Amino acid sequence: MTVKNAINWRKTIKKYDSTKTIKDNDLSTIIEAGRLAPCSLGLEVTNVVNIINKELKTKFAEEVMYGLNQEKVKNASCVMVVVGINPEYLTSTEFLKKRLERNIVEPDILKNTLEKYQTFLAQKENLFAFVSEQAHIVTSFITLQAADLKIGSTIMGGFNAEKCNELLSEHCDFDEERLHSILVLALGYYDEKDEQTTLPRIRIDFNEFAKIIK
Ligand SMILES: Cc1cc2nc3c(=O)[nH]c(=O)nc-3n(C[C@H](O)[C@H](O)[C@H](O)COP(=O)(O)O)c2cc1C
Repeated sequence: MTVKNAINWRKTIKKYDSTKTIKDNDLSTIIEAGRLAPCSLGLEVTNVVNIINKELKTKFAEEVMYGLNQEKVKNASCVMVVVGINPEYLTSTEFLKKRLERNIVEPDILKNTLEKYQTFLAQKENLFAFVSEQAHIVTSFITLQAADLKIGSTIMGGFNAEKCNELLSEHCDFDEERLHSILVLALGYYDEKDEQTTLPRIRIDFNEFAKIIK
């Protein structure tokens, strides 16, 4: 598929086919798209946690998701939580050093750059919002890569983030001191012939969306 075709094919999925599973290599391709997404300062402040275990998906749906999102999570092949790092950890020397020393070897330059980054981040009004912006870009890459593989997706903000954090820390290496949940994605197959699975595409007019200054 071309990127244009993937953009047109992608629609929010309302009802998943619980009998169909995403192949491991396709899930890896989707995750890789998120890993390669651009991010401010190259800091890579997000991760994804993927739940494919059926019982855990059901528990997650019931305890974490709101309303109609519950069924989507139960029936989708994979539930993916996009998580981001907490402001305190983001601005810590430990975290910044780990990121910066990947391409800065010289100790003085490393120290100066680290201080510059700390100053830049300290000026940001809301570091949760800064991390959330990166998570939404990761999400775009992931959902488009899924579309390219003809795998449906739903981006969901309708969930209880605190309960999500708790459940993740119970079931995987998720440190609530350092990480928080930002978005939940459902990924899976659906009946493309059933019109109820997606919403009609409604968008504002091109000229309302875009101003082109010549
Ligand atoms: C940040 C964000 C949060 C969303 N939260 C939900 C949600 O909780 N449940 C849901 O069914 N759709 C959710 N959506 C999907 C939107 O409703 C959907 O993208 C929009 O109506 C346009 O439809 P389309 O994606 O089919 O083009 C969310 C989308 C975004 C970008």
